[in-house]
Amino acid sequence: MHESRYFAVIPAAGVGARLGAGLPKQYLEIAGKPILRWAVDALCAAPWIERIVVVVAPGDSVACGLLRGLQQVRVSDEGGATRRDSVLAGMCALGPLAAAQDWILVHDAARPGLGIRELEALRAFAESPVARATPEAGALLGLQATDTIKRAVPGVGAVRVAETIPRDRVWMAQTPQMFRAGVLRTALEHHPDVTDEAAAMEASGHPVHLVPGSRTNFKVTEALDLDLMRAVLANRSATESVDKGALQQ
Ligand code: CTP
Ligand code: MG
Repeated sequence: MHESRYFAVIPAAGVGARLGAGLPKQYLEIAGKPILRWAVDALCAAPWIERIVVVVAPGDSVACGLLRGLQQVRVSDEGGATRRDSVLAGMCALGPLAAAQDWILVHDAARPGLGIRELEALRAFAESPVARATPEAGALLGLQATDTIKRAVPGVGAVRVAETIPRDRVWMAQTPQMFRAGVLRTALEHHPDVTDEAAAMEASGHPVHLVPGSRTNFKVTEALDLDLMRAVLANRSATESVDKGALQQ
């Protein structure tokens, strides 16, 4: 068996209804760069990811312009009605380039705050003994809950607490979610109603591991997220400018 290779799929075919910005949220600019470009640049920072497929909605011609000149990036405009359909379209666009044992990192276009440290942590998992020994195993970034967690039931007039759940058992899922191409495709085909790849893998009975993510890798979903992400990335572009300045001196 040859060494597994790494590929990425970025589903970017959503409309951003909850943000309601009048255009898909992945095209909103933060610190002078569209959110989608931030997400793509984050993955491009990992040279071991050989190709990145960005999946947009049919007829969407914006992404191609934003991503022109990035050698390892391809755009597919075969995005579907659900995120799962868009991910499958991205895997289809990779075609035979990705063999069954190769890794696919699926990353939301709406998570522009991903850092190289988290990507390297995912790769460390892929190269760990547990991943090598179990071909169906995969991993996703996640954040362990820091607040006390309540399970709720609908109450009369107000939501009621059913119980308090030990918070060391609760993680919030982030992306990238990284699975081997063969098992991921089958899992997504068999479980059309999932909201993330991990859920399809879990439903298929495959082991799914959690790798600590980062608080700045949150998804831009509502208007306040956009303000918070502006603060995170303004900071990051300031740091990058300082780094570049230091290199030029
Ligand atoms: N996505 C996709 N195809 C879909 C739906 C979503 O590729 N049919 C992508 C989005 O573009 C986003 C990611 O999946 O990058 C996560 O989805 P979400 O945050 O729900 O984005 P939207 O669906 O665009 O937002 P909303 O649900 O508020 O409409
Ligand atoms: Mg959505």
